[in-house]
Amino acid sequence: MAYILEVRRLSKRFGALRAVEDLSFTVRKGTISALIGPNGSGKSTTFNLITGHLKPDAGEILFEGHHLEGLPAEAVARLGIARTFQTPQVFSHLTVLENVLLAVYQHLRPGRLSALLRTPSFFRKEKGAREEALYWLERFFLADEAARRASELPLGKLRYLELARALALRPKLLLLDEAASGLDPREKEDLARILSQLPREGLTLFWVEHDLNLLMELAEEVIVLDQGRKIAQGPPAEIQKDPRVIQVYLGEE
Ligand SMILES: Nc1ncnc2c1ncn2[C@@H]1O[C@H](COP(=O)(O)OP(=O)(O)OP(=O)(O)O)[C@@H](O)[C@H]1O
Ligand SMILES: [Mg+2]
Repeated sequence: MAYILEVRRLSKRFGALRAVEDLSFTVRKGTISALIGPNGSGKSTTFNLITGHLKPDAGEILFEGHHLEGLPAEAVARLGIARTFQTPQVFSHLTVLENVLLAVYQHLRPGRLSALLRTPSFFRKEKGAREEALYWLERFFLADEAARRASELPLGKLRYLELARALALRPKLLLLDEAASGLDPREKEDLARILSQLPREGLTLFWVEHDLNLLMELAEEVIVLDQGRKIAQGPPAEIQKDPRVIQVYLGEE
């Protein structure tokens, strides 16, 4: 199947406000695809509809052929969709390592009985979980912070932690809501390098981002929203030249 995600005629209103209106698009498997648009154009709402954090008023969302509309967030997550939030959401009272460990446990659940009896298989799984969590911390340069409380991290590292945690869930599709926002240039460069490796590891990324330069380098396909509607979809080089897109972005400034 070429498309991992297909959205058809999706709509969501908040009162009289049409946050997402008759929106259709596809995301190809194994790509980095991007969703852009001015403030308030419906990007986060689209994500919330996909992940089951909001229920659509109309339309269909297909993930590997499964209908997602109407499913609760936990069910969507179990199918293999993870996300990060515009405002990072981590367990702030837990350590950095514990945050990622919790995600690893979601798929490495030690059997109830073996946990109770503390069998060798329980301890093997425990060790495996720690190693896997540390692997993700290392990939995001967080190994030295493993024992710190998440609440002590500066924004850049918090975004990295949220990403490490999302990836530790071993999703097939990862939705990133402004993963680069608030990062310094060095952190952005590191982020770009790490994210660009993920499609080769079988992941598909769908990325909301305001830093268009970053997307021009990394994204294969860009979908542009304006007032809840799609106004363009295509490779970054084409999108950059699209008169409607230019108008929307110039209008914003
Ligand atoms: N839960 C909600 N209740 C009411 N209105 C909402 C809700 N969530 C979003 N909106 C409104 O819907 C519109 C789309 O919001 P959304 O957060 O999807 O935009 P966005 O493209 O993510 O913007 P930004 O770039 O600022 O993050 C906005 O006008 C917003 O105020
Ligand atoms: Mg948003």
